[in-house]
Amino acid sequence: MSQAADRYQRLSSTPPGRFLVGRFGLPESTPLRRYEAGQPLLAGPAVVGGAPEHRLLSTVERVLEATNSTALAPDAVTDTTKIAAAVFDASGITSSDDLAKLREFFSPIISRIGASGRLVVLGTPPEHAADRRHHVAQRALEGFVRSAAKELRHGATGNLVYVAPGGEDDLESTLRFLLGSKSAYVSGQVIRVASGESSTPRDWDKPQAGRVVAVTGASRGIGAAIAQTLARDGAHVIAIDIPQQGEDLASVANAIGGATLALDVTAADAPAALAAYLQERHGTVDVVVHNAGITRDRTLARMKPERWDAVLDVNLSAQERLNEALLLGDLIGDGGRIVTVSSIGGIAGNRGQTNYGASKAGVIGIVETLAPELAQRGATINAVAPGFIETQMTAAMPLFVREGGRRMNSLAQGGLPIDVAETIAWFASPASGGVNGNVVRVCGQSLIGA
Ligand SMILES: NC(=O)c1ccc[n+]([C@@H]2O[C@H](COP(=O)([O-])OP(=O)(O)OC[C@H]3O[C@@H](n4cnc5c(N)ncnc54)[C@H](O)[C@@H]3O)[C@@H](O)[C@H]2O)c1
Repeated sequence: MSQAADRYQRLSSTPPGRFLVGRFGLPESTPLRRYEAGQPLLAGPAVVGGAPEHRLLSTVERVLEATNSTALAPDAVTDTTKIAAAVFDASGITSSDDLAKLREFFSPIISRIGASGRLVVLGTPPEHAADRRHHVAQRALEGFVRSAAKELRHGATGNLVYVAPGGEDDLESTLRFLLGSKSAYVSGQVIRVASGESSTPRDWDKPQAGRVVAVTGASRGIGAAIAQTLARDGAHVIAIDIPQQGEDLASVANAIGGATLALDVTAADAPAALAAYLQERHGTVDVVVHNAGITRDRTLARMKPERWDAVLDVNLSAQERLNEALLLGDLIGDGGRIVTVSSIGGIAGNRGQTNYGASKAGVIGIVETLAPELAQRGATINAVAPGFIETQMTAAMPLFVREGGRRMNSLAQGGLPIDVAETIAWFASPASGGVNGNVVRVCGQSLIGA
């Protein structure tokens, strides 16, 4: 599917379509603002506020200034203001009584948030709270943001960022991502940022300049979008896929001036082959994206061992073996990034997908178990968990299953491969050293498994 509006969007934006959507309470679906070169971070002013004793407002102000964005105080909002972003620093809320500050800030302005606008709340991770009441108040932010995000309209999104004490200077890449259009399909998420080894890119439009990136499953779909997006960001991309996909792989790599590596990630010699390739040509690797994945659906009663084994091997065990070889060979170190692709199926579960669900939940386990080790190396590991993304895979679904998957989220539409790729590009940025151990869904705030 192209970036153009889907058929339902086109229909529902005509006057009779709008009438039907309103009359029958059908989901409203607005084409999302997506990134284009030269686009300003925000399409209008940002309204900024904070509870007393906030820690993070100065970073917010710095980002707005650096991106030539306009900051407005809440009382400067009029009936005609179209707010592009509303940001509230709640890190200083230390008791449940003070949660009312959220209502005071957002209630008068939420209906002024414009198309593809942004609601962002910043907090302190509950596990870093000073006492019980502080923990409770900070934990409450999650329910507030997830609910407020469901009240937003016209493609606007809402997300929460917990910033650990000491992580204030590592927040910038995450703020830029969430405020701008690259996070178009990310809503209702809770992101954790801590102190890490971040480096500020010389050019925020080319954060991968001089870096080497390997992407598996890069010949088509989401993998091709990841390769293109990281090349746009300045990386030299090594596009990896099975030998049978050679022609498509070459056309993806040629278009971005990248290299190809024909490799079945499940092959017994794949870890050694990848490690040798990287060592010989580049010495090390800066970013590895584990995107290769397959489905072989059957209900559990009818699940043949071959189907089970194939999915577990491609989606999970191969990644474990590749990571082991990269870490043992010291191929990934300072500033390194591993990004892996999970799925909403690994979080919520899907009928007929016990193999796929197990593999994609296992991928989250990889993130959990490797995050501390990578932090020690000055590197990170994170996962994206896509929801319904418009690809060949989802185009092949039966009509009603497809329409259900596409509409059952707060944005009432499917995401595009570029939405997953942009989220991966944020994780992969050298400026995201404080973003480690996260699983971020790219699902338009899917109602499934929320
Ligand atoms: N499309 C969605 O809605 C969706 C949702 C959630 C998660 N995902 C995940 O996103 C990733 C990409 O999905 P997609 O929709 O682009 O799928 P796709 O089938 O279009 O692409 C997958 C790619 O992986 C490659 N691949 C498969 N086995 C391989 C192997 N053994 N070695 C190397 N490469 C191999 C394939 O050749 C293909 O190019 C997968 O991990 C998938 O599980 C997709």
